[in-house]
Amino acid sequence: MNEAGILRDILRVDHAGEVGAIRIYRAQIAIARRRAPDLVPVLLESLGDEVSHRDFFAASMNKRGIVPCHMLSLWWSGGVILGAVTALLGRDAILTCTEAVERTVHRHMNDQILWLASRDADLADGLAAIRDQEVGHLFAAQAAGGRRPRWLDGMIAAVTEMLVWTSTYGASARLAREVR
Ligand SMILES: [Fe+2]
Ligand SMILES: [Fe+2]
Repeated sequence: MNEAGILRDILRVDHAGEVGAIRIYRAQIAIARRRAPDLVPVLLESLGDEVSHRDFFAASMNKRGIVPCHMLSLWWSGGVILGAVTALLGRDAILTCTEAVERTVHRHMNDQILWLASRDADLADGLAAIRDQEVGHLFAAQAAGGRRPRWLDGMIAAVTEMLVWTSTYGASARLAREVR
């Protein structure tokens, strides 16, 4: 795939991922108000970041005439389902979800930043700032304590990986091999 195609896939999958993240956090916040109220402030803070990330990627795509991911509705509904199911399972599942998703996402962003560094430094910088905030979400979840069921962590990370892989037609894996 040519470089323009890779750049297009990076922006599309990141934008779609942020749309999914927004749906996860919104669904979790709605349910956590009753089931895990102590988590609501940290979930709200992460949600605010995800909204600004989505706006950044939407603007970056718009500037380059790139249309959103064809699988956007799948990210949207996947996010709602993942957020609602984990929130219904309770506090530990909410935090497991945050950790699994943010860990997967920031690893992909690291690959993308390395690839972009020599090609579009401005975008690489913007992405690095977002990556730092995703790591912050991961740390906030780790700091909140509780248990992290291994099966749930593995399942959520696998679903996230699968969505990333499918949305980029496997380009995420090729990109990782190229920069590592
Ligand atoms: Fe984000
Ligand atoms: Fe995040």
